[in-house]
Formats: sequence, structure tokens, C-alpha cells
Amino acid sequence: MTVSGCCSNVLVCGGAGYIGSHMVRALVEHGYVPIIFDNLSTGHAESVGDVDLVRGDLLDRQALRRLFAEHSFDAVMHFSAKSLVGESMTDPGIYFVNNVVGTINLLEAMREAGVSRLVFSSSAAVFGNPLTARIAEDHPRQPVNPYGRSKLMIEQALRDYANAYGMRSVSLRYFNAAGADEAGDIGESHKPETHLIPNVLRAALGTGPELKIFGDDYDTPDGTCVRDYIHVADLCDAHLRALSYMQLKPGAHAFNLGNGNGFSVKQVVEAAWRVTGRDVPHSMAPRRPGDPAWLVADSTLAERELGWKPSFTDIDAIIDSAWRWHQKPRY
Ligand code: UFG
Repeated sequence: MTVSGCCSNVLVCGGAGYIGSHMVRALVEHGYVPIIFDNLSTGHAESVGDVDLVRGDLLDRQALRRLFAEHSFDAVMHFSAKSLVGESMTDPGIYFVNNVVGTINLLEAMREAGVSRLVFSSSAAVFGNPLTARIAEDHPRQPVNPYGRSKLMIEQALRDYANAYGMRSVSLRYFNAAGADEAGDIGESHKPETHLIPNVLRAALGTGPELKIFGDDYDTPDGTCVRDYIHVADLCDAHLRALSYMQLKPGAHAFNLGNGNGFSVKQVVEAAWRVTGRDVPHSMAPRRPGDPAWLVADSTLAERELGWKPSFTDIDAIIDSAWRWHQKPRY
């Protein structure tokens, strides 16, 4: 896509992480100048190439003040967060400290520096258990885990910051991010890995343990959880569009980003078998606390308002993209 050259200097918090590093690459490709702020707790310095990386933590207000004093930013993208649903159930404190306190610190630093545009990484987890087959923006927001609650609190704060201080923001509610850069040299790598597609592919490759399928007694067609997998390149495209959108639209906006198609855990395993030609060793395990049975997006609003349309709509193509990355040697 082509974007207007509205915001050339973009601070990317969490730019060394999975989605953030893909975003940094897309920003460079589109003529922006990204600067990364990342504590490298889960991110990889190797994945950002020669883009400026400031190592620091959103909980360190002095570091944030220095960052904003030393650079001039036109907009901020905020990917830094704890993002594991299961972990948030057992250790909610780190979710509220990192995701809520850390983000408020960022908003305050932005305000002090007069930076008034933010693209915020929100999540499908703000909705909780869906009442409709596809989740649109007006669906009730009743998160069922602390991770989702931490994201919802920030969405609410952004509305207050818009009303009181004129801060412009777009919250992008990702459904299940997946896939890797076309060049195959950056992709999804967490330690420990908890996400489905990487775990399926590592089981297929033999570089990880057999896959545990968390629950086959959900109220879904095959009993396993259904998710909407959205390619990381499509997420990046939406962020670029959000930058332009904020040029025109004041206020705090939120959009759902998904493909609108749900795939069960078992269907993902079958797709991985088709793509890789390998068996995926797996066994059944108890449900993972905090997992909704079914999360599928209605992204009509993002299509209408941002002009966004996912280019990866086929689960096999998404898995194939991740597979090419997983077969490469890892940092
Ligand atoms: N799953 C397994 N075995 C695994 C890993 C996952 O069965 O080894 C299952 C999970 O129980 C879930 C599904 O696969 O039903 C997807 O799990 P992921 O961990 O890949 O993703 P989540 O749906 O838990 O969470 C992801 C992001 C969140 C976001 C959410 C929104 O990590 O940030 O998608 O749908 F909120």
C-alpha cells in the first residue's frame, strides 16, 4: 500500500519482538524512520538489522523521558506487552504492571513531549467469550483473563486521553497473529514457546516436544478451540493504514483484525500435515485456563475505515509462511 508521508519518525515500543520486528521492516520499506525501544525480555536484537534500538523498559520513567527528550517522534506504535493468556491467569500482577502501568508511563511521556498519535496493539482477548459467531467492534467487552483485561483498560484510558488531551489513537485488536516475513529471516520465536502454530511446526520438525492439544471437550464442531489466524504482514499493513487514518480522524478508535474464518486446533494440525508433509505428533491434554472456545473476527469496520483487507486468507498459506521460517537455523 502507499501511505501519506504523515509521520516520518515513528517510535516502535517492542520493535524487537515478533510483530514489532515485522513492523519495523515494513516501516523502513515505506519510507518511515523507526526507532525501537525494547527491553529485549522476549525480543531479539538480531531481528531489527541496523535500525536504531534503544534498550529500555516502559516501567523506567526516566528512560522514557530521556528517549522523548533525545528524539522527535511523529507517532508511536506500541507492541511491548506480556501476551500469554495462560500466564496471565497464574501471574496477573505482571500483566497489570507491564501492560497497564507501562503503557500509562508511555502515554504520560508522550503527553509531556507533545506526541499525540499512537497505534496500540490490542487483542481479541478484550471480548471474552463471544456471543456471536463473528466478533464485531460493538460486541460486549467482557474479558475472561487478566491479559484481556489489561488491554481493555488501556483502550478505555485511550478514550479518556482523547477526550481530555486530544490524543489520537487506533487500537488494533489482533486475533491470532501467525506467519513470518516473506524473506523468511524473521519470524515467531518465543522462549518458552506457547503458541499453537510454532508448537505444531516444532513438533513436526522434531525440534520441540509433541503437541499437547489443550481440551477437546469445547462446544465446537470437533471439540477443540477455534481461532482466527491472521498473517503478521496483514497486521503490519493495518498499522501503516492506522498512521494515515489518525491524520484525518481525531479521537480513540478500535478495529478488529482477523480473517473472519475460524480454524480449530485439530484443523491447524491437519493443515500443518498438508503443508509440511510430516506427521505432527500430538496428544490430548486438559483445557488451558482462560481460553475462550471460539474467537473469530468480523473485520468489516477495518475494511471500511482503513481500506484494509487481509491478503493471506488461506490457513495453509499462513502455515506455509511460518514453516519456511521454522526450517531455518535460529538465533
Ligand atoms: N493450543 C494448544 N496447544 C499448544 C498451544 C496452543 O492446544 O501447545 C491451543 C490453545 O489452547 C488455544 C489455541 O491453541 O485454544 C491457540 O492458542 P495460542 O496460544 O496460539 O493463542 P491464544 O488464542 O491463546 O492467544 C493469542 C495471543 C493473544 C491473543 C489471542 C486472541 O497470544 O495475545 O490470541 O485470540 F489475545
